Amino acid sequence: MEWKFLAENKAGPARKSKDYRLFSERVIQSAQLLEKSLSEYIVREDEDLNTNKLLKETREIIALSDDPTHTFRILRRVRRYDDLTYIHSLNVAILCHEFAKWMHMTEEEQDILTLAGLLHDVGKMGVPGKIIKKAGSLTEEEYSVIRQHPQKGYDFLKKHPLDERIMNAALMHHERCDGSGYPNGLKADEIDDFAKIVGIADCYDALTSARVYREPHCPFEVFRMLQEEHEKFDPNYMAIFMEGVATFYIGCEVVLSDNKRALIVDTNPMDQSNPIVKINGLIVNLAMVQELDVKEIC
Ligand SMILES: [Fe+2]
Repeated sequence: MEWKFLAENKAGPARKSKDYRLFSERVIQSAQLLEKSLSEYIVREDEDLNTNKLLKETREIIALSDDPTHTFRILRRVRRYDDLTYIHSLNVAILCHEFAKWMHMTEEEQDILTLAGLLHDVGKMGVPGKIIKKAGSLTEEEYSVIRQHPQKGYDFLKKHPLDERIMNAALMHHERCDGSGYPNGLKADEIDDFAKIVGIADCYDALTSARVYREPHCPFEVFRMLQEEHEKFDPNYMAIFMEGVATFYIGCEVVLSDNKRALIVDTNPMDQSNPIVKINGLIVNLAMVQELDVKEIC
């Protein structure tokens, strides 16, 4: 299937195209199904989580386009409309699925990592909606309730016969390699590998999403933010993640910090936050021009 994008279609934004509408409707449908399935399982604790059904939905979304780059770019736009936890979980699941492929994992591992992404925030269903959806800043008490969601998620998932890595991703996705995370302040080698990967995808997706109090950050700005906090993340996984995601944006038109337009022509392995771009026919390595950054993806 051929998706039309702003960078490739100067006639108008991709979000107006029929393909885009179909895709975004499908994503929102899947997010609703995810919410419904999980609510039912939480009420009926005796029934096993039907992970096949959840995986099938995610796979079908990925299969809507035969090019993961297209899927990814569209998801970025869908998120502007609906920033529910379930859309976030679906985004993280799809990022995890791609990550598993970049890592050349087996199909079984790909499925486990995708499910780990899909279910990582399931504990948020145990946090009152008024706290999750609160527009203003959280009180200390509310924040401490939010911080219970990894443990709540783990407690819920352990009632079901799931792979241990899926449960660990729910429990440990806010742990950080330098010990600064929660709920248990674990350090690098104590954190499950799948939880480290889900944690990176989770941070990236949260920072590139709109919030009531701020616009979404540009992916390259998020790379800079993640690089600044490099001690929190596994360096190998972070390098693979940034290279994979940066590759999605090759061919995209961007606005630079001087408000001029450029085209991304390659990633920059030495500094993924500064891709190689073409400006008025000239190839420029943004890492070599200190005052110039990617401000926005068109
Ligand atoms: Fe979380």
